[in-house]
Amino acid sequence: MKILGIETSCDETSVALIKAEKFNFKILSNIVHSQIKVHKKYGGVYPLVAAREHEKNLIPVFEKAITLNDIKNIDFISVTIGPGLAPSLLLGLFFSKLLALYFKKPLIGVNHLQGHIFSPFLNEKEKKPKFSFPYICLIVSGGHTELVLIKDILNYKVLGKTLDDACGEAFDKVARILGEDYPGGPKIEKLAEKYRKQKIYKIKDLEFSPPLINSEDFNFSYSGLKTSVLYKVKKSKVLNEKLKSKIAFHFQESAFLPLVKKTLLASEKFNIKKIFITGGVSANNRLKEMFYENKKSKVEIYFPDKILTQDNAGMIALAGYLKYKKTKKFDSLTNLKISPNLEL
Ligand code: KG4
Ligand code: ZN
Repeated sequence: MKILGIETSCDETSVALIKAEKFNFKILSNIVHSQIKVHKKYGGVYPLVAAREHEKNLIPVFEKAITLNDIKNIDFISVTIGPGLAPSLLLGLFFSKLLALYFKKPLIGVNHLQGHIFSPFLNEKEKKPKFSFPYICLIVSGGHTELVLIKDILNYKVLGKTLDDACGEAFDKVARILGEDYPGGPKIEKLAEKYRKQKIYKIKDLEFSPPLINSEDFNFSYSGLKTSVLYKVKKSKVLNEKLKSKIAFHFQESAFLPLVKKTLLASEKFNIKKIFITGGVSANNRLKEMFYENKKSKVEIYFPDKILTQDNAGMIALAGYLKYKKTKKFDSLTNLKISPNLEL
């Protein structure tokens, strides 16, 4: 089967084509247009600005991803219906409905988080997992921080999630406090790395305590940590590069320790040896290193390829294919609606 994927839930416009034979998947194209440059000015994503950008970019991205001849040979279209920003989701859904209508193709609406959950199955560079269940998935992005037990394609148990901000959101806010551009994740990682190269540290020496590290659940919290950084910066007289690096390092370590500890704990508690770490923050090399340093030898950890860590339509096409495999049903063009607060 060939599936066309469309993703517009936040600030990435993406169109992809994948090929799936039973449980072997291959990306034929996966074009992502990021709106970072536009949102940099505002220090975050504004929903109506994002929607306007999707309207501008959907057609050129579509034309880059697929030829009109290819579209005649696809089996169906898979589109993100939520969670995400309503104006952005509406554009992707409407565009998909028009394509479905014009080319007489079936349409299936998928949960964006299912895309992240399956993303490592499309790996071409990073280690590729065998298609099997169960596994534990940590989704860690700008909008989500959730630990989920994946029992089967559409059978999940959410073990815990953030009680306030998402981890990536905290990286973006802390970067702004330090005077860095959006998106903050890569900037913080770079700053932190400069400092880490010079020091060896112990957890007890961290300047900000890792949030909820000892709570007996699988929840996370990032708003208090961000506020601690804000106070620290306000108290310091000068914010030079050296201090920025130090703060970025202490923040990053404290932000990641609960993710690593609780994910590995969940794998032990449920006796599940396969773990996926997905979403925008999973691109962070220090996070990878911390997982590898702390995991037991029998535990297998998988990260998506860099392009698959961010929002992309390849993972949406795959999620649509797997949903169809399980339900054998497509959605009605009239009744399919966006669902901005959709949960797993
Ligand atoms: O998955 P994604 O593209 O969009 C959402 O669904 O949210 O994730 C974007 C988030 C941003 O908050 C960004 O700062 C963060 O992922 N991010 C990182 C890194 N690269 C991106 N956070 C930490 N370290 C990175 N290297
Ligand atoms: Zn996402």
